[in-house]
Amino acid sequence: MYNRRVGCCCYYNGYVLSWNNRQAADMFYYWNGAFISQIRSEVVRGVMDSGCSGCGFYRFKDDGAVYATFDPPPESTPEQIANLQRARENFNLGSVTVDHVPIRFYFNFGVGCNLNCIMCGQTSERPDETSLDADLLWQWLPHFKKSLCLSLIGGEPLVLPQALSFIRKVVSEKELEAVQLDLYTNGAVLDKHMDLLERKNRLSICVSLDGVGPTYERIRKGGNWARVERNLLDFKETSVRKGLRWSLTTANLIMKTSLAGLERLVDWHIAQDITPNFSDFSLAPGIEKTFLEENVFEFPHLLAEVPDWTHQFDASIQKLEGKGWWSVAAILRNMKLDLVHRLFKPFP
Ligand SMILES: C[S@@+](CC[C@H](N)C(=O)[O-])C[C@H]1O[C@@H](n2cnc3c(N)ncnc32)[C@H](O)[C@@H]1O
Repeated sequence: MYNRRVGCCCYYNGYVLSWNNRQAADMFYYWNGAFISQIRSEVVRGVMDSGCSGCGFYRFKDDGAVYATFDPPPESTPEQIANLQRARENFNLGSVTVDHVPIRFYFNFGVGCNLNCIMCGQTSERPDETSLDADLLWQWLPHFKKSLCLSLIGGEPLVLPQALSFIRKVVSEKELEAVQLDLYTNGAVLDKHMDLLERKNRLSICVSLDGVGPTYERIRKGGNWARVERNLLDFKETSVRKGLRWSLTTANLIMKTSLAGLERLVDWHIAQDITPNFSDFSLAPGIEKTFLEENVFEFPHLLAEVPDWTHQFDASIQKLEGKGWWSVAAILRNMKLDLVHRLFKPFP
């Protein structure tokens, strides 16, 4: 990450290693270092109280939800398949020191952004120009080509100069044709970068929305719903017209304001055939006010301000199930259940 943190997973919240932004370390210095080896040994022993406990990824998912599998995507290269195979063998053996490279590299380039979302945990860090260095990361190209995907986030990767420089390198690199580029973006300036992105066949973008129309603009301050909607539809249309292997999903935080517009948000996704994902938001310095006013999971009394909240959940769940998006519907069902439990918790 831009702030020098090197973790083993973007959800991992335990101790991390430190990145030197002036000199590229050998990737295995991190990947087989004492620290990650210790995490592996904890995973092997089933000790999950390091940085994995209370993992946000699983919080509202049904039992059995998986973060990743060992199945190679279609048309993987022999090198990617061999790496994945070694990863599986190392996993099955419980190896603490491994000879495969990461299946996924995830880079957070910095906190700079073109929006000012009300719940954004990075707000208090801005302005800050600290960034990962694209040239430095590029020294790991021999490892990248064995991986399945390179994931980029910020801040906003489509406005951060080093993230854009890294994207330019990835789209121009023949050796990375089979490696997927994942962008976590607000989609607000996607239109400005379509020519660049069209050069990458394997591309996946996850666009954060949280709401449609006025709800979107109330949460994602500085964003323009008409433009982001047009960008998403253009992205879909381009993918079909050019026969590209592109995928598009959205990320949506459930909080008081977004909950009031949940059914409309779900209707939009179904109408456009774009799969949404849902999660809750966490506290960070600088967003205490939003947390107190918006986090219905921590402060369920806020639901009184969304009188039809059960309808918002029930109608959305029913429509998502009707569409066959069972695991997405399950997240909303588990969220509703959690809220009901919290509301009816007996007094201590
Ligand atoms: C910080 S943004 C960066 C990427 C990009 N600019 C975007 O908007 O998706 C990544 C994701 O974190 C979410 N997010 C923002 N603040 C959060 C918080 N306090 N807790 C959990 N997620 C948060 C955003 O809604 C977004 O989906």
